Amino acid sequence: MGIDSTLCCLVSGFSRYYPDIDDWFAAKVIPGMFNGTRRIIAKSDGESIHGLAILKKDLVEQKICTLWVHPSQRGFGLGQRLIDEATEWLGCKQPILSVPQEVNAHFNRLLTRNGFELRQRILNAYRPGTYEFVYNGELNKSDGFSVLQ
Ligand SMILES: CC(C)(COP(=O)(O)OP(=O)(O)OC[C@H]1O[C@@H](n2cnc3c(N)ncnc32)[C@H](O)[C@@H]1OP(=O)(O)O)[C@@H](O)C(=O)NCCC(=O)NCCS
Repeated sequence: MGIDSTLCCLVSGFSRYYPDIDDWFAAKVIPGMFNGTRRIIAKSDGESIHGLAILKKDLVEQKICTLWVHPSQRGFGLGQRLIDEATEWLGCKQPILSVPQEVNAHFNRLLTRNGFELRQRILNAYRPGTYEFVYNGELNKSDGFSVLQ
């Protein structure tokens, strides 16, 4: 499998946290890569992906949409490197990041060290019965579930 399809499979796997992620990736991320409002940072060895950040930068929002490091690569500083590269491209030291409840604890040390501030804890943001933790900003939420941006 090529890296592009590996990346798509990886992103699809996050549907357990964000059920609409495939639609979001096709409708927002891919076009945004062409108009310069999105960037994907993928760290790989040519076969498998070790780390991933999906970024959004427009006039309104500077955001790390997804941040992930492969379990076998965690604890070696890759998460920090991704944050460094993300904040540099975004031109913003404290971009918005939202994190599902199930993995929020993974991010504690990394986010504290980088001065990220927990601003919201939203029940039912993307799925019923779970919290989304939002750092450095707020999610746009109308009635019902939030829409991935
Ligand atoms: C959060 C995450 C990106 C950190 O990546 P990483 O490469 O391990 O990060 P670093 O090596 O730069 O470590 C940063 C700090 O976090 C700590 N840390 C890393 N993984 C951790 C975990 N699972 N639980 C608790 N602390 C953790 C490290 O010990 C380190 O702290 P220290 O430097 O004070 O010792 C990674 O754990 C991850 O991808 N988790 C799953 C996230 C996910 O599911 N994302 C997709 C949906 S948003």
